[in-house]
Amino acid sequence: MKAVLFKSKDIPLAVSEVAKPTPGKNEVLIQLHYAALNHRDIWIWKEKVLDQELIPGSDGSGVVVAVGEEVDTTLIGKEVVINPSMYWGDDSRFAGESYEILGNPSNGTFAEYIKIDESFVHEKPAHLSLKEAAALPLAALTAYRALFTKAKITANDTVLVTGIGGGAALFLLQMAIAAGASVYVTSSSEKKINQAIQLGATGGFNYKDPEWTLKVKNTIGSFDVIVDSAGGDGFALLTEIAGQAARIVLFGRTAGDINHLKPSVIFNKQLSITGTMMGTHEEFKAMLSYYSEHNLKPVVDKAFQLNEINDAAAYMKSGEHFGKIIFSIISFQNKA
Ligand SMILES: NC(=O)c1ccc[n+]([C@@H]2O[C@H](COP(=O)([O-])OP(=O)(O)OC[C@H]3O[C@@H](n4cnc5c(N)ncnc54)[C@H](OP(=O)(O)O)[C@@H]3O)[C@@H](O)[C@H]2O)c1
Repeated sequence: MKAVLFKSKDIPLAVSEVAKPTPGKNEVLIQLHYAALNHRDIWIWKEKVLDQELIPGSDGSGVVVAVGEEVDTTLIGKEVVINPSMYWGDDSRFAGESYEILGNPSNGTFAEYIKIDESFVHEKPAHLSLKEAAALPLAALTAYRALFTKAKITANDTVLVTGIGGGAALFLLQMAIAAGASVYVTSSSEKKINQAIQLGATGGFNYKDPEWTLKVKNTIGSFDVIVDSAGGDGFALLTEIAGQAARIVLFGRTAGDINHLKPSVIFNKQLSITGTMMGTHEEFKAMLSYYSEHNLKPVVDKAFQLNEINDAAAYMKSGEHFGKIIFSIISFQNKA
């Protein structure tokens, strides 16, 4: 089968011919139709040097084509989506020592086929196409846990989602609106702010504008919940526009280390600043149900072929995208 292979940050990614996997006794073999790119993939390709070649990719959807001896054969032919948050462990508050995210260290979804333990395989929500379903797993799971488990969002909350162009940010926007909250966004792009308003955001602010937090104070006042995946120097500003006893949830580092946080702002307002990452098996199921119950569909920006992997990575790094970047593996197969 064809697969993208990654070995080291110094070697460009390429599609190669590799052995098609055979499912073990508790595993299924999925013919992947679509996969999706996450910023995690970019971090790995930018920072890691591995001992052996790896198929990257955390998000994927497809059809079960074979099962191991212990797996129910009625799964064959089912359209499925994969939970990339594997071996979480017993404590729902944090991931245990065996925890893994699909696509490093285990082979991921940027391939024609994947074998994976059946416990990570879920039926695709009926209202979504396989292409839409591939966009969900990593980012929507993270967004679900950030909003519901960590921020405990309610319909009375005024929420801020930062950097709305990002894949994960749009899931936060959709789910927070569905929960009845009033949701504002930030972006470096006026166009993206307007696109977010079209999707139901109440308003937005350009984080490149040095006056943006002043504008928040003069219009909205403050936020009850802020979800951020950038960190960096902008994070301290978020504490300034957080209201009394606000909840700030962080899950990314796109803008680097956090500086200039003022302790007095945090303790005087009694802020809760909490980190989160991915989610449990139960949260993955709850996220899929939430998408079905509210008839939500992910925002897909653009689809690439697998052999355009370096173009897709450059596109994500450019920050021009609005929504998920997808790989159409099935059309790549049909062309090959
Ligand atoms: N811990 C976890 O479980 C987990 C899970 C998912 C993602 N993440 C992390 O979360 C981050 C986002 O991931 P993603 O896949 O959604 O990435 P992405 O699609 O590449 O998101 C990039 C977006 O970040 C925004 N951004 C860049 N610099 C910013 C800044 N200084 N302030 C505010 N926003 C800024 C931009 O929004 P605009 O274009 O609107 O300006 C850009 O479009 C990454 O750091 C990723 O590693 C972590």
